[in-house]
Amino acid sequence: MFTIVANFLSIIPARLIKHTFELVQESITDYQTLTDANLQATTYDRLVRSLLIYGGLMLLAAIFRGLFFFLTRWTIMVVGKRVEYELKNEIYAHYQTLPLSFYRSNSTGDLMARISEDMNQVGMYLGPAIGYGLNTVVIFLMLIPYMLMINARLTLYAVLPTLLLAAGTYHIGAFMKERSEAIQRKLSGLITFVQESFSGIGVLQAFAREAGFTKVFSKECDAYKTSFLRLTSINAMFFPAAKSIIGLGVVLVVFVGGQEVIQGRSTPGNIAEFVMYLNLLGWPTFAVSWINNIVRRAAASQKRINEFLQEKNLIFSKKALRSPIKGHISFENVSFTYPNSGVRALQSVTFEVAAGTRVAIIGATGAGKSTITHLISRLYDAGAGEIAIDGVPIQDYAVPFLRQQLGYVPQDVFLFSDTLKNNIAWGKPEATNAQIIEAAQLASIYESIQQFPQQMETMVGERGVTLSGGQKQRIAIARALIRTPKILILDDCLSAVDTQTASNILRNIEEAMQGSTVLFISHRVSSPQLADRILVLEAGELVEQGTHKDLLAHRGAYYALYRQQQRRYAK
Ligand SMILES: Nc1ncnc2c1ncn2[C@@H]1O[C@H](COP(=O)(O)OP(=O)(O)O)[C@@H](O)[C@H]1O
Ligand SMILES: [Mg+2]
Repeated sequence: MFTIVANFLSIIPARLIKHTFELVQESITDYQTLTDANLQATTYDRLVRSLLIYGGLMLLAAIFRGLFFFLTRWTIMVVGKRVEYELKNEIYAHYQTLPLSFYRSNSTGDLMARISEDMNQVGMYLGPAIGYGLNTVVIFLMLIPYMLMINARLTLYAVLPTLLLAAGTYHIGAFMKERSEAIQRKLSGLITFVQESFSGIGVLQAFAREAGFTKVFSKECDAYKTSFLRLTSINAMFFPAAKSIIGLGVVLVVFVGGQEVIQGRSTPGNIAEFVMYLNLLGWPTFAVSWINNIVRRAAASQKRINEFLQEKNLIFSKKALRSPIKGHISFENVSFTYPNSGVRALQSVTFEVAAGTRVAIIGATGAGKSTITHLISRLYDAGAGEIAIDGVPIQDYAVPFLRQQLGYVPQDVFLFSDTLKNNIAWGKPEATNAQIIEAAQLASIYESIQQFPQQMETMVGERGVTLSGGQKQRIAIARALIRTPKILILDDCLSAVDTQTASNILRNIEEAMQGSTVLFISHRVSSPQLADRILVLEAGELVEQGTHKDLLAHRGAYYALYRQQQRRYAK
């Protein structure tokens, strides 16, 4: 509605100009034919008054037209931004549902590019492109029939060049889309590169590779620039071309219209009016090429966004069981191959862990220990075999419900840029201060925290203190313990903690986690002596299981590992 009113208000002045023209012409003729000086003065006064009124009307039309154009743009922008906001939320929410395997096979930079840069392109389409597009359609629909009514022949000559422009724009469209896609791909690559070089800045500097990276960056930037410029060059040519074509229309109108005036079929007022109409059509016609460009870029971006939106999360539960678990775990002939690398990480693994017991899983790096934890927490689904908790297949439990009952300390600890307190409470957002402190004490990190300048309120990560590897591990343990989980999984999480502290923590866990199942994963043999049972993994296969004593007496893989490590520590 705003667009229609605004355009109506821009047509009115042209109409007024026509009348003014005719009025001036008539008055001059009247003036010249009149001989009486008094009557001449009256004609003159009448002309001046009329001109003032017309001028005033035009001014009013201009003011209201401005107001309505403002309202149009404001509405379109607000709607566009709101849609963009909802789309962004939808994409982010969808990202959250995607499985770990998705994140392993797509770079963070690419993910970020799609939610920011690509989303901006779509936003440009939703706001300005739709707004100007609507304006173009409205003014053409309002003006062309009107012009045809006044003078069909003149209209044809005036609009002919514009049609030419529209046809040209259409043909270049496909070409532009392809270039836009290339640009977005380059940008994704660039963001990935930059993101990675900042994450790895420590290594980068320690190896003095900054210059090399800067060179690569500059090359990538250059490639981006080049492909952007190639698109820009087409855009740049469009503008002058469009302007000359409109100019050609004006020339045609004056030429053809002039002849009609000579033949007495048109008035000079009509020509003046038509020149103004052409100017009114000028901007919307330029906009066509611009809108076309935006629509193509947005289409290319939306395609990239859709690629990820269409990614399905295959880790879900059909039965969505929500019964609380006790902590019995069983693996039956479980095999697993990482989908992205094709590495066969587990091979027909069968074992059972009774609820409330402590089991250690021992093996060299790459034996498949962490893979077992991924399968229990359903970060991945096993390819073959069956994993059950309390005798129920793991796939039957509602996924978040199952995960909420696990306490998982990953091998690569990740802490959020937040306070220590919040990082611990991450495992249980509703935790009280006392619970947070207790968890920190169990993980033997409370004393260290007290020594930080702001204690529990100390910021971690990018904006705060950098913790040592062992401190991070202990925060991660506190984060898992605060949940008092039914199943606690400790994945090699004491590797950076000294042996004395490690055995303190284990003793604390032993006491605090009565009734919970504890899976203790390690590549060291020293600590698992506390475990009720030990599983030994070798290259994805379960080679031995039993108590520490049994396995030593058995003199197999465990014994060999034990001897080897004892000798190493003895040295
Ligand atoms: N996300 C992953 N994608 C592909 N392969 C992986 C991934 N994680 C581990 N692997 C491979 O699976 C095998 C077992 O790894 P893992 O379970 O992490 O061993 P461990 O924890 O015993 O050191 C290794 O060969 C490793 O390279
Ligand atoms: Mg591991």
